[in-house]
Amino acid sequence: MEEKLRSINLHKKPNHIAIIMDGNGRWAKGKGMQRVFGHRNALTAIRETADTASDLGIKFLTLYAFSTENWNRPKFEVDALMSLLVTTLKKELPEFIKKDVKINSIGNISSLPKNAQKVLAHVIESTKNNKKITLTFALSYGSREEIVNAIKNISKKVVNNELDVEKINEKVINNHLYTFNLPDVDLMIRTSGEQRISNYLLWQMAYAELYFTEVLWPDFRKEHLFDAIIDYQNRERRFGKTSEQIESDE
Ligand code: FPP
Repeated sequence: MEEKLRSINLHKKPNHIAIIMDGNGRWAKGKGMQRVFGHRNALTAIRETADTASDLGIKFLTLYAFSTENWNRPKFEVDALMSLLVTTLKKELPEFIKKDVKINSIGNISSLPKNAQKVLAHVIESTKNNKKITLTFALSYGSREEIVNAIKNISKKVVNNELDVEKINEKVINNHLYTFNLPDVDLMIRTSGEQRISNYLLWQMAYAELYFTEVLWPDFRKEHLFDAIIDYQNRERRFGKTSEQIESDE
């Protein structure tokens, strides 16, 4: 583990890591338990990942906690996920404050149960001046829904003569996404062996490196995060340039 940590170049670390925490259901099933048991055990992985990212000096960590499509799961599971969210946020708030973690959310938050909205708003307000790391929960989030929502809001401004069509550029679109206060994603990690993006941060991942691991989310630990970062650092990010240009930029 120490060796892995030493091989991380702290000057080349990703600024923003986004994670699709997949495999909770399969993890639970493998233990002969209900899917919800997997979600509950996901919390240890969340805590360890957030702590490790923060210790490494990574500034933004964004976790896919609930997608717009997840509303179609059995009511029992949806209710369990919402109640897990509420209890976790309440329980962890003192830790977020102590560890200087700023909590943020993206998604169609108004579709969450009222008590979840209330607790979330309280935790966001209570941590808004924290600086070490921004931990964003994607809740009732879907990238296409986010883009539709942005287009509606931009269109309203055009109709009301607040915005000239010719002034619409990438920055304007960025400013109307739920992620308006977050930088682009550098590294996207998906657990459980699935190799899909599943409607997650499509715009924001335009230049992200994608990393897929077989590890099921409840088993994801510090060493797995190190592996993903080491892999990321061994890739060459070209942003459309040639290798020679990248070398002369360094
Ligand atoms: C994917 O596993 C996981 C989810 C759909 C929910 C993620 C939620 C958590 C990690 C816990 C709750 C979050 C907070 C912030 C308290 P899956 O159920 O799709 O697993 P499977 O693919 O094996 O069925």
